[in-house]
Amino acid sequence: MTSSLKHQTFELSAPGDNTRVILLTKKLLEQEGVDETRQYLLAAAVSELSTNIIKYAGKGNLSIRIFEQEDYKVFEVIARDNGPGIADISKAMTENFSSGTSLGLGLPSVKRIMDEFDIHSCPGKGTQIMARTRID
Ligand SMILES: Nc1ncnc2c1ncn2[C@@H]1O[C@H](COP(=O)(O)OP(=O)(O)OP(=O)(O)O)[C@@H](O)[C@H]1O
Ligand SMILES: [Mg+2]
Repeated sequence: MTSSLKHQTFELSAPGDNTRVILLTKKLLEQEGVDETRQYLLAAAVSELSTNIIKYAGKGNLSIRIFEQEDYKVFEVIARDNGPGIADISKAMTENFSSGTSLGLGLPSVKRIMDEFDIHSCPGKGTQIMARTRID
């Protein structure tokens, strides 16, 4: 059985929206007693997903949630957009692959930082990414 402790959804459509996502993610984790280094690390993971939405889909939304599972707490992020989608997911998950001129490290970093990572994407329809990690 799971019980939700905190939940927040952000609508994303402009580069500035990312700032709110980062600050509120950090704050929520701080309230749950997560140490500062981890707050920054998890906020960076969330930021990679929100940056991708703004950059590649133009707009979308992102939810963060903390819930209890058995006797531990889990931090979850879900990013959704109705943008162009990703034709080749395994390529997008490869370090240093970018369809633009970036480093291509965003998605592989999120996968490394989090315990669970799940991506679904449909060309022309959009992308949904879920990532979770235990926080205590
Ligand atoms: N939400 C999305 N919609 C469409 N394509 C996406 C989305 N997120 C990622 N991609 C595609 O996957 C590729 C890899 O994403 P990733 O975040 O790893 O690297 P990047 O954004 O190119 O570079 P970096 O994150 O290092 O600045 C992107 O170049 C882009 O083609
Ligand atoms: Mg990226």
